[in-house]
Amino acid sequence: MLDELKKIAEEVKAKLGEIKDSQELRDLELKYLGRKGELTNILRGLKDILPEERAKIGALANEIKLDIEASLNERRGAAVSADLPALDLTLPGKKPERGHLHPVSQVQEQLENFFTSLGFIIEDGPELESEYYNFEALNIPADHPARDMQDTFYIEEKQKGDPKNRLLLRTQTSPVQIRAMKKYGAPLRVVVPGRCFRYEATDVRHEHTFFQLEGLMVDKDISVAHLKAVLEAMAQELYGPGTKVRLRPKFYPFVEPGFNGEVSCFMCQGQGCRLCKQSGWLEIFGAGLVHPKVLLAGGIDPAVYSGFAFGFGLDRLVMLKYGIDDIRLLHGGDLRFLEQF
Ligand code: DAH
Repeated sequence: MLDELKKIAEEVKAKLGEIKDSQELRDLELKYLGRKGELTNILRGLKDILPEERAKIGALANEIKLDIEASLNERRGAAVSADLPALDLTLPGKKPERGHLHPVSQVQEQLENFFTSLGFIIEDGPELESEYYNFEALNIPADHPARDMQDTFYIEEKQKGDPKNRLLLRTQTSPVQIRAMKKYGAPLRVVVPGRCFRYEATDVRHEHTFFQLEGLMVDKDISVAHLKAVLEAMAQELYGPGTKVRLRPKFYPFVEPGFNGEVSCFMCQGQGCRLCKQSGWLEIFGAGLVHPKVLLAGGIDPAVYSGFAFGFGLDRLVMLKYGIDDIRLLHGGDLRFLEQF
């Protein structure tokens, strides 16, 4: 038994020298000191031998056990650090990946900052809107052909009520003009960014979901001059000083007169290029002086107040800015696209 003990002591010493990591160290510990370990077995067998020998062998076995434990402990630190990958303190740190705002949110934020600097407030409206606010109150009665251009998704109703309260997905941010006038009265300066919907067969230029920004200013003696000044300031914020605005007559039921607003092309400074289809101008917004019927619907007396309004697509601004030729990319959720902004 003495020989066995000595053999164990030597074996352990030899094997300790070959240990590479903490797993091997643990295996070694188990092999000798574990519950069924070789040394443990010997210690357990002591009770079966003669008492005179027991003391001597017992003492030696204990000594060897303590010895093994001590050397295992000594090796432990080195074994654990061998588990770790090499640590190079001179390597540059790993940057955690951060997301960023969607390009449409980026222009929206830029314009919100711009308009609040001019004293406009920012207002939200419901995406699920009533037929009244989306059409009627904006001077688009049920039989008006303008409704064809803004076909949308209607919500099926269980109980038939007043058709004007029928719910639909709003086709434009303009209904918030009415809501804001009712809520705040005049004078009023407000912009409304928001999601809109149309029943479209989608293609590179049409999407069923898109974003607009609406503007409304109501006060005494508001004229087209105010409208043009504000739009020009906005165009210069977007495309730099020197950017010009051109207004051409266009019909919108909720304004009179109504305009198609264009800005001088930021790519060619109005010289004519591929982006502006050689015209020198980019069609960006609809605008006009608020129709008296619309002011009335908003609870404002058109004999005292007048106002201007405008609205445009934020998606279109982003497409022009980056030369994106397919609107469906914007809200398709493809990270390969989004990570470029
Ligand atoms: N709501 C119109 C559209 O979606 C855009 C528009 C045109 C808004 C003229 C206005 C405006 O406020 O005055 O096509």
